[in-house]
Formats: sequence, C-alpha cells, structure tokens
Amino acid sequence: MRTTVGIIGAGPAGLLLARLLHNAGIDSVVLESRDRAYVEHRQRAGILEQGTVDVLRAAGAGERMDREGLRHDGIELRFDRRRHRVDFPALTGGRSVMVYAQTEVCKDLIALQLKEGGPLLFEAEALAVEGAGGDAPRVRFRHEGREDVLECSYVVGCDGSWGVARKAIPAELTRVFERTYPFGWLGILADVPPSHDELVYARHDRGFALLSMRSPVVSRLYLQVPEGTDAEAWADEEIWDELERRFETGDGWRLERGPITQKSVTPMRSHVHEPMRYGRLFLAGDAAHIVPPTGAKGLNLAVGDVVTFARALTYEQETGSAELLDAYSETCLRRVWQAERFSYEMTTLLHRPADATPFEDRIQLARLARIAGARAAEQDLAEGYTGFPLE
Ligand code: APR
Ligand code: PHB
Repeated sequence: MRTTVGIIGAGPAGLLLARLLHNAGIDSVVLESRDRAYVEHRQRAGILEQGTVDVLRAAGAGERMDREGLRHDGIELRFDRRRHRVDFPALTGGRSVMVYAQTEVCKDLIALQLKEGGPLLFEAEALAVEGAGGDAPRVRFRHEGREDVLECSYVVGCDGSWGVARKAIPAELTRVFERTYPFGWLGILADVPPSHDELVYARHDRGFALLSMRSPVVSRLYLQVPEGTDAEAWADEEIWDELERRFETGDGWRLERGPITQKSVTPMRSHVHEPMRYGRLFLAGDAAHIVPPTGAKGLNLAVGDVVTFARALTYEQETGSAELLDAYSETCLRRVWQAERFSYEMTTLLHRPADATPFEDRIQLARLARIAGARAAEQDLAEGYTGFPLE
C-alpha cells in the first residue's frame, strides 16, 4: 500500500489530520490498532478552546458540535467556602470555550472520514516506522492477521502516549522532560443535571474537586485521590459525600446526586518529547506530550500540532519549500510549553499534596485570592484557559 501521509492512530490528532489533509487535496491512510467501538467510547476531557472550535468548523466537522455543544463564558473557582467567577469574554476580548466531549469529536470525524476521506483501517496495529531519516519512510503494520507495509512520503505518529512512532527517533537526539504528580483523578459520569451551569474548580484542604458536564442531563465530576487508588474501592455514596464536602459553600448551594454510570481513575503527569520531528517522521498530540487534565489542554494541543503539520505540508506542496516542515518541531513546542506551564500551574494551584505544609496551604490560598482580586492575574488564567493562539 502507498500513500502521501501515513497516519498512525485514530484519536483526535490522527482523525483531524486526515480531515485537514483531505480538504487540502492530500491523500493519507490512517492505521488504528483498536476497533471503532473502542475509539468511539473512550472517556476523555470535554473542553474545546475557541481556536479548536474554529478549526473544527472550518474543517467541516462542526455541525453537531454547534447543535449539541454548550458554549461556556466562564468557570467558577471555589476555595475557603467562597466562590469566584472568571468571566472569559470580559477578560480575553470575547473568547469562550465549548463543552463538547472528545468522544463526540472522534465520532464526528470518523463518520466524515469513512464517508468522504481516504482509508481508515481499524484493528490495524503499527509495529514500527522504518526509514524515517530517508526519503521513503514505511510503516510496518498488522491487519486482519497479516503483516503489511505502508509506503509513505511522510509519517505522522498520532499514536498517543504508548505509541510506537517515537521509538523511530534515535535516542541520542531525544530529550524527555517529565513530572509525575503524587495524585490522580477519580472521575464519574452520573445521570443527573449538573448542579451548576458552568464548571467549578474547587480547592479544599481534603483535596481538589471538579464539577463538569457532558450535557444538560449528564454530569462529569472528579475528585483528587492518592496515586494508585482503585476506583472500585470507592462506594458511590462515599464519592458523593466527598464531593459534597469539597464543593461546600457558605451560601446554601447544593450538589444534586444521581446514579453513577461510570467510574475510573486517571493518573496525572506532564511529559514532553523533544524533538517532535525526525526526518520525515512527525509526532503529534499525546505521542509527543502529555499534560495533567486540569484545564483540559490535551485535545486542544493535539489540534494545534496537526493544524501546524497540515499547513506546513500544504505550503511545501504549493511552493516546493520545506521551510515550514523544517520548523514544525520548534513551532509546536512553543505552544506546547505554554500549555504545559498552564496545566502545571493550574494543577499546583488547586491540588493539595498529602504532605503539604501549612505555609504551602497559605501560599495556595494567596494565589487564589490574587486571581480573585487582581485583574491581571485573573486575565492570565482566562487567557490560558481559553487557549494560546496558533502561530
Ligand atoms: N498502531 C496503531 N494505532 C495505535 C498504536 C499503534 N501501534 N498505538 C496507539 N494507537 C492508537 C490508539 O489506540 C489511539 O486510538 O493511537 C490513538 C491515539 O489517540 P489518543 O490517545 O486519543 O491521542 P491523541 O489523538 O494525540 O489525542 C490527544 O487529548 O484529551 C487528551 O489525552 C487525551 O487522547 C487525548 C489527547
Ligand atoms: C471534563 O469534562 O472531563 C473535564 C473538564 C475540565 C477539565 C478536565 C476535564 O479541566
């Protein structure tokens, strides 16, 4: 099999890239190791930055998002039993975010790709990328019990944090930057209308809690738990009791309970793989960088990467100049590091490590009070949350 761009992975990065290339008249083949149902039901975050919304619309993939997604103009910070609303449009010159689940983005892109785009092979596992340093990179893969080879002009590894693509970059050229956190998130989906119309990020002495949503009738909530926690160790009523404690305010606000339909624990880490390109192999999305989920930057970063690649390749095809492709890694990494910084700061602002000292508690509260009291600090949060512009 032969194609211009071999794409490994059909998460949001791989699927959107295939769509952008299709729209630019560039052919591609997507290889995905899992089956379609698995990819369409994986629970991930659900906040789309303004820039991501614009990209999906321009790619012709925004129709259901515009119908079913919920535009949010702010978030609430909760600490010390107080509430503070951050007003995004007022602080950012009109920007907002969209609540629309990542699984829904994937479903929409898969449907478009199968209807209009090039081949998208499920249960096709890439085994290795070969010849990345030369002119004719190949992806060896297994599909329907047979080994095959995809001959490409370019390979984009969109294969997530456990993928194979980045292994083709020589170790001596690679640098990895990493931080793990001594806690994770216990996340639940519950059949109950959200108890607040915007997301609530709560800092509490017992740990962080987040109120989010999937629709006007489905809530998504998270609790900071110690690293390595087993989700099944938490009974449903214990989860609700703990959420109630951490969200408590002095003004009579109530958390509505409902049947929990799903529960799982997400570990938290920050991770950046540099460079994001070697020869004709490019990394995009989680394959190159992971952020902790506080602030929901993962999907939005993946979108930035593939937009950058699609533009660079289109430029090369139109002008013959590889200038933008050559700049891919540096261009992406500037934005990646801003999102890494934002996610790290938001995580350390709101989570309480088990060994936090009283001094650190006071500093955390002072940081929150500064955001609530000084426009410059609040604006910095709002700009980071609604997203850093694509260059
Ligand atoms: N061959 C083929 N496919 C593979 C292989 C392989 N060897 N290894 C992994 N994959 C597939 C995975 O099954 C998955 O569907 O690659 C895909 C990677 O998708 P994601 O993990 O969703 O990563 P990405 O597309 O970069 O999405 C960005 O945003 O909210 C965050 O972390 C969250 O996934 C999210 C990310
Ligand atoms: C989610 O809805 O899953 C979500 C929202 C905001 C975050 C993280 C996750 O910061």
